[in-house]
Amino acid sequence: MPFKLTEEFKAKAAHICARYPRKDAALIPLLQELQGQAGFVAEEAMDALAQYLELPYARVKGVVTFYTMFNRAPLGKYHLQVCRNISCHMAGAPALLGRLKEKLGIAEGETTKDGLFTLSTVECLGACGTAPVLQANEDYFENLTPEKLDALIDDLKHGKHPLKR
Ligand code: FES
Repeated sequence: MPFKLTEEFKAKAAHICARYPRKDAALIPLLQELQGQAGFVAEEAMDALAQYLELPYARVKGVVTFYTMFNRAPLGKYHLQVCRNISCHMAGAPALLGRLKEKLGIAEGETTKDGLFTLSTVECLGACGTAPVLQANEDYFENLTPEKLDALIDDLKHGKHPLKR
């Protein structure tokens, strides 16, 4: 069944578009709205939004694929985002990423079979002074070491670490 924008979404979209001189300028907030509803932005949703904004599909897809904040598939319960920018890179992020891949048995962009973890890399999280940094859902974990990372994953697996989402 083709994806259809809901009436609720269209009402919000009209409100959001009214803040901008041209409705195509509302592309990013509307994508955030779509993601807020489903947790990700499906190909069909991009297509429907492109038609709604009278934009080429490629422009919508280009924005979704450029910004790591947009998810193109459902996420696991815990979305682990490892910063790959320079400060974190120099402070050991590649080793932490490798450890996560090994521990979880998944590659970047993948979700564990039990639906618990999704692993991503992202650009600078704005906490370079406490590199290396990992964002888990809405929470930051800074000055990470392999030991702290192991403890975090174990806590999350056992539901011991209350994240915001
Ligand atoms: S480089 Fe990682 S937080 Fe800035």
